Amino acid sequence: MGKTKKGLRAGEKPGHQADETLRVLISKARIQKRVGEIARQIRRDFPKDIIHLIGVLKGSIFFLADLARELGGEVSFDFLGVSSYGKGLDSTGEVKLTKDLDVTIEGKTVLVVEDILDTGLTLKYLLKLFEERKPKHLRVAVLLDKVDRRIADVQADYVGFEIPNEFVVGYGLDYAERYRNLGDVCQLRIAGPGKKAE
Ligand code: IMP
Repeated sequence: MGKTKKGLRAGEKPGHQADETLRVLISKARIQKRVGEIARQIRRDFPKDIIHLIGVLKGSIFFLADLARELGGEVSFDFLGVSSYGKGLDSTGEVKLTKDLDVTIEGKTVLVVEDILDTGLTLKYLLKLFEERKPKHLRVAVLLDKVDRRIADVQADYVGFEIPNEFVVGYGLDYAERYRNLGDVCQLRIAGPGKKAE
């Protein structure tokens, strides 16, 4: 196959490495359409409220930005950072706050915006933290839901797409900080014995 202007082979994506295979799972067009639908649903549920969006860094940034513009009415944003340790089935699934919110959520209509719901341990931790801060409403929107991977008993109120148990990148999601800027959500497979993107 010939190389394109940017030095990429046909079908390759920026940041692509030789032993990695990317396959589009959800196209940019499908994402945009679905984000619009979710936004309308959220606005119908809270027609008059200022919706306070809380983005979980960094994977949620594109989803939050697109959702915010589709929501209409008044919105405000805040961000928080978390890191998770040992998310495997045999781990403690400890979650740690690396950046707290800048403003109070007390009395607000809060929408937590997450890129992907996997084991659910991160969301469980966040919901407990936020409930203690007494918002008026607390809802969760996730772009992707890996239902089969769930360990914690949590669910999102608004879900973009349910996906199989595959490692995905793009539209904010990364593999070792790469691929976040892809417009599509792609499945990432890594060749070689024992190599798995997790
Ligand atoms: P949970 O606590 O297991 O639900 O993990 C949620 C976090 O794990 C997400 O916010 C992502 O940062 C990360 N994650 C889970 N699955 C994937 C994936 O397929 N690709 C990229 N990141 C993922």
